[in-house]
Amino acid sequence: MDQKNPIIVANWKMYKTDLDAKVYLQEFFELLPKTSARVLIAPPFTTIRDVVKSRQYIEVGAQNVHEESVGAFTGEISAMMLRSISASFVICGHSERRRLFNDTEERVHLKLKQILLNGLLPILCVGETVSEREAGQTEKVLTRQIESALFRLRPSNLILAYEPVWAIGTGKTATPEMAADVHGFCRDLLKKLWGDVKVPILYGGSVTPETATALAAKPEIDGALVGGASLDAAKFVQIIKGFTS
Ligand code: 13P
Repeated sequence: MDQKNPIIVANWKMYKTDLDAKVYLQEFFELLPKTSARVLIAPPFTTIRDVVKSRQYIEVGAQNVHEESVGAFTGEISAMMLRSISASFVICGHSERRRLFNDTEERVHLKLKQILLNGLLPILCVGETVSEREAGQTEKVLTRQIESALFRLRPSNLILAYEPVWAIGTGKTATPEMAADVHGFCRDLLKKLWGDVKVPILYGGSVTPETATALAAKPEIDGALVGGASLDAAKFVQIIKGFTS
């Protein structure tokens, strides 16, 4: 990890109303010491604007985007719309979207393209299921997910997040060694595809204040993508501190 500037991302998923977000941010900014970490928050669409307004030194982004730029797609949000409210990044390829909302590899690729076309930073999530890991398929699955998402793209700005599906919301964090191994594999793969580019690789999956320090100690881990524990301002601050102490 770049010890000075870890990247810590909160993914609030479908939690927090406007009021919840206001209360959270007040507590969060009171507790957060001046930090060298790059802190990003992905609230639900409905609170992005408020979080953007209240931000001090955080970046605010979205958890999803539609793969077309404009059109009759009832209920969807485009990358241009996100940009117009000053969102700066978008999470794409999250396993919950792949599994529950039919975000196929093709769609993940198209979403990534839209994100880049609109000058936003993509956080591309990849990860294997428990049965894929047990079958020794982890590297194959990650290769497929990364190569398909980045097909014919060479973004100058990209964050990769390794989120093993079996570790998300389950309390089962990958050990720092397991995560570091996979991060090393992804880094080598990106190097093969693009040469020496610098792509930060975050770990996600049941990251808590208790596990943050050990994960942070691994040089291969550049930061964390945090779900459940990021919903509590005090816990999220502790995780940030765990990565910077
Ligand atoms: P949890 O931290 O709740 O396991 O969620 C991880 C995640 O999905 C972040 O995108």
